[in-house]
Amino acid sequence: MEQAPPNPGRRTWVLGGLAAGIAAAAGYIGLKHRPGPGRLADHAAHFVNPLRIPGKSTRLGEASDAADAGIVLQTGIHPQPLREGPLSDVWAYAQRTATGQVQLNPTLFARSGGRLKVTLENRLGDDTTIHWHGFSVDEANDGSGLHPVRHGDSRTYDFEIRNRAGLYWYHAHPHGQTGMQVHKGLAGLVVVEDEEELALQKALGLTWGVDDLALSISDKQFGLRNKIVHEVGADDWVGDKVLINWTPDPVFEARRGWLRLRLANTSNARLYCIGFDDEGRRRRPFHLLGTDGGLLDRPYRMDSVFLGPGQRVDILLDLRGHAPGDLLMMRSVVYDPMENDAGIGPPEDFAMEHPGATPMGEDLDLMLIRVNDQGGGASGTLPERLSTHAVGIREDAARRPFRLWIQDTGRWMINHWNHHLAHGHDVFEIARGSVERWDITNDMRSMPHPMHLHGFQFVVTGRANSPKQVSERAIDPRGRTPQDTGLLDTVLIWPGETVSIQIDFSQPFAGRQRYMFHCHNLEHEDQGMMIGFAVID
Ligand code: C2O
Ligand code: CU
Ligand code: CU
Repeated sequence: MEQAPPNPGRRTWVLGGLAAGIAAAAGYIGLKHRPGPGRLADHAAHFVNPLRIPGKSTRLGEASDAADAGIVLQTGIHPQPLREGPLSDVWAYAQRTATGQVQLNPTLFARSGGRLKVTLENRLGDDTTIHWHGFSVDEANDGSGLHPVRHGDSRTYDFEIRNRAGLYWYHAHPHGQTGMQVHKGLAGLVVVEDEEELALQKALGLTWGVDDLALSISDKQFGLRNKIVHEVGADDWVGDKVLINWTPDPVFEARRGWLRLRLANTSNARLYCIGFDDEGRRRRPFHLLGTDGGLLDRPYRMDSVFLGPGQRVDILLDLRGHAPGDLLMMRSVVYDPMENDAGIGPPEDFAMEHPGATPMGEDLDLMLIRVNDQGGGASGTLPERLSTHAVGIREDAARRPFRLWIQDTGRWMINHWNHHLAHGHDVFEIARGSVERWDITNDMRSMPHPMHLHGFQFVVTGRANSPKQVSERAIDPRGRTPQDTGLLDTVLIWPGETVSIQIDFSQPFAGRQRYMFHCHNLEHEDQGMMIGFAVID
């Protein structure tokens, strides 16, 4: 389907990525740092690397609007300057532009109702795939481990964008190797637009790449000679350095005005609680505009928001009243990690496996924002309503219970299933077009699990037995948080909690279509905290 580009000015930004050469100029440093008391300016002094901005730092070719021609992404290993010292090998999807430039992990732009056509050429030396996270696609285009692409082979993913506008992403999803391949770098963002989204940009006066940014947040574990390390079979692979769009210790120079940050947690296992502190270390409120599956019905004012692996949040900061030079730190604020599974299974030594890594739940600085003295920032009006999209709760939906728990051996389970024990078989079938309610209960003797569904977005219909740090965020009698009011493909389930989600299994595809439901802690996924199911006629 040919569509006119929604906003011609945007076409120069169609793709963005991590480009060879750009980083070299930035002069990265890698100081050890402990957040302490005192002024933000002092303890944030090492945030000196300009944030890489997809489509701005590099001029890129056109991608997804050119649905007919499509693009080619070739997997390979690309040495990049990420820290002071030796280059780091980044496993990336490389796009060669007509002018011979190489763009790594490009951000793709697409239009709701349009198409995305991407050919994967696998030169990785191992099986891989591209999974289109969050997209409502058929099995063949889902890119799960069911359809590996062998080294030397290619495969074209070609599908209609049936999703609303929002921030989606793509990543490798080979059987048992997802954690390794994503940690080494095989992931990128997809920005989808539609009329509601364009109306919001216009109302606020946002300019892409200037005050409307897409940020991929991912922590990496660096080893000797700056090697990005991951161990297959390891648990909860957190890193010692958080990179934002592959920038360590990033600083972003913002204009006075609105600043919109669309965040994707592309980390293997790290859970963030995103908040913003000002110079006096006071927490600054923001508006939550959207979630995994697009805009909320209205903006919600919040102080902090949980962002589990795989999830996205769309955040609007008000910098209109700021003065040039003002600083703001985007950080993960302190929360209770509720790792109640400690001591179960083989012993782990966090400090040994992740030297220098901040333990989950502790204060962690992510990105410094410095207000600059350029005028002309986004100064429009935030609409009271963002979207007319609504999903009604169906009390008559068929119920399906799930229990998340850990065996004494340390194996994570969904009911009595583990993907490896089930030998990858579909464990249930669902009639196409039916609406189900899944009640997902996490054992108390567990940890938070970001549960992800392939092929369908869903809504949260309620939370029960939530820990205080969740229940205190509830905005309705169902126990839902502002985030829960949006469309999601990944939902955090805390120890002791039951989260109910409603899924509409309608789709225009025929025959047997197989999908996955799994934990997006990628080490849990690889260990088999995943079940396959089939949608059938
Ligand atoms: Cu983003 Cu099956 O995962
Ligand atoms: Cu997915
Ligand atoms: Cu998990």
